[in-house]
Amino acid sequence: MATNKRLPFVTFRTRVRDETVDGTNPYRWEDKTTDDYFGSKRVMLFSLPGAFTPTCSTYQLPDFEKLYDEFEKQGIEAVYCLSVNDAFVMNAWGKALKLEKVKLIPDGSGEFTRKMGMLVAKDNLGFGMRSWRYAAVVNDGVVEHWFEEEGLSDNCASDPYGVSSPQNILEALKCLRVASAP
Ligand code: BEZ
Repeated sequence: MATNKRLPFVTFRTRVRDETVDGTNPYRWEDKTTDDYFGSKRVMLFSLPGAFTPTCSTYQLPDFEKLYDEFEKQGIEAVYCLSVNDAFVMNAWGKALKLEKVKLIPDGSGEFTRKMGMLVAKDNLGFGMRSWRYAAVVNDGVVEHWFEEEGLSDNCASDPYGVSSPQNILEALKCLRVASAP
């Protein structure tokens, strides 16, 4: 996706804990739109192929969590991790990693990812349609900076990871800040 483009408007179906719900699993559905997540603030979005997968779960998501405060220093007000996984899986992943700062966005149907032009087949891994790895700084719903791994393709034999790492993005944001300083 090019910079200065507006994110597609979709509704995400999330599950939130609600103690007023009866039973041992007190969660309810809560719909969130693109505007709820991205409106009126400057945020970091990164998207990856799947919850619990090795690179995503060992490096990319935990590293964004660890470096969250550094992103705040760069004027980022929230960090969102999106995956073509449903809300149950995304919640379980967040719990497993004890996330406190990064927020997870479930794009279970892949609608947002498809409209971003980032939906790829991963049938070679038995995954179906998933997100190509990318990240973006999004300001009030508009893409300000774009970080996409090379080689976007269906059934890619490799899983490029570098451009969309938090370390790479932080370096880029720091350089851009220095370059635009008066
Ligand atoms: C990984 O994050 O390591 C991964 C992602 C997609 C497929 C396989 C592995």
